[in-house]
Amino acid sequence: MLLPGLPPCIPYALHTVCFHTVLIVRTVKTSSPRATALARIVVLANQKGGPGKTTLAMCLAGELARRGHRVLVADADPQGTATRWAASAPDTKPFPARVLATGANPARLRAELRSHLHDYDFIIVDCPPSADSPLSHSALLIADLAVVPVIPSPPDLWAGLTIRHVIAGAARVHPELRARIVVNQRKPGTRLAAKTRELLPEYGIPVLNTQVGDREAFRHAAAAGATVADLPRAQLAQAEVFSLTHEILDVLEEDTPP
Ligand SMILES: Nc1ncnc2c1ncn2[C@@H]1O[C@H](COP(=O)(O)OP(=O)(O)O)[C@@H](O)[C@H]1O
Ligand SMILES: [Mg+2]
Repeated sequence: MLLPGLPPCIPYALHTVCFHTVLIVRTVKTSSPRATALARIVVLANQKGGPGKTTLAMCLAGELARRGHRVLVADADPQGTATRWAASAPDTKPFPARVLATGANPARLRAELRSHLHDYDFIIVDCPPSADSPLSHSALLIADLAVVPVIPSPPDLWAGLTIRHVIAGAARVHPELRARIVVNQRKPGTRLAAKTRELLPEYGIPVLNTQVGDREAFRHAAAAGATVADLPRAQLAQAEVFSLTHEILDVLEEDTPP
């Protein structure tokens, strides 16, 4: 079943990126009078504040832009963290993706996202710290992929569990929606605790293989208005962002959910 105005996905083009060739599946709005390639929309959402929605949204956007893609970050969080992040960049080295504050009106958010579909390859939506907010719900209804960052500790995992209902509700209306969990802020050098491994399946959402460590580089990147790729001595963070981006592109290439 399709949302009104949301047509089937059609593989569209092969793009060569810096290190390897990736099949980027582009959507073609067959019902549109002006059928052209459309941006893929990735929404960072979670019930809680703090697991890393903004951090991973900016890292993903920065990495995609670094690879030559046209990337928009839609800052749907009224706190405006992504906007401030980009504004911290020096004029001589702006943040590589455009960041746009989209306001607090859910209907306008979706209209705004639609209005940019032809101008970008990827739109990354940074949601407010409440997955059941109308803004998050609105973004999920137009998304190709929901990425849910979680901190691997039981209290954080318990607090975030309601996201599964929010995503399941959006997917009932918009079955093309895929979702993935990404473990963020894992203590470097540690394995996931048994309790964490036990709790993750309760989300009912596939977990990405990439786990992002708790690393200073991510905090520095925000302060510098940069991506971790621009920072010295940040190779481990860079490798994690590279791997995360690669996995997300792989999920977007898949033809059928989940
Ligand atoms: N992988 C990470 N390593 C270190 N600090 C992180 C990491 N991810 C997020 N943070 C920090 O955690 C805090 C919350 O992250 P943020 O991305 O703002 O979360 P959210 O957008 O979900 O509220 C910020 O101070 C951010 O710098
Ligand atoms: Mg945030």
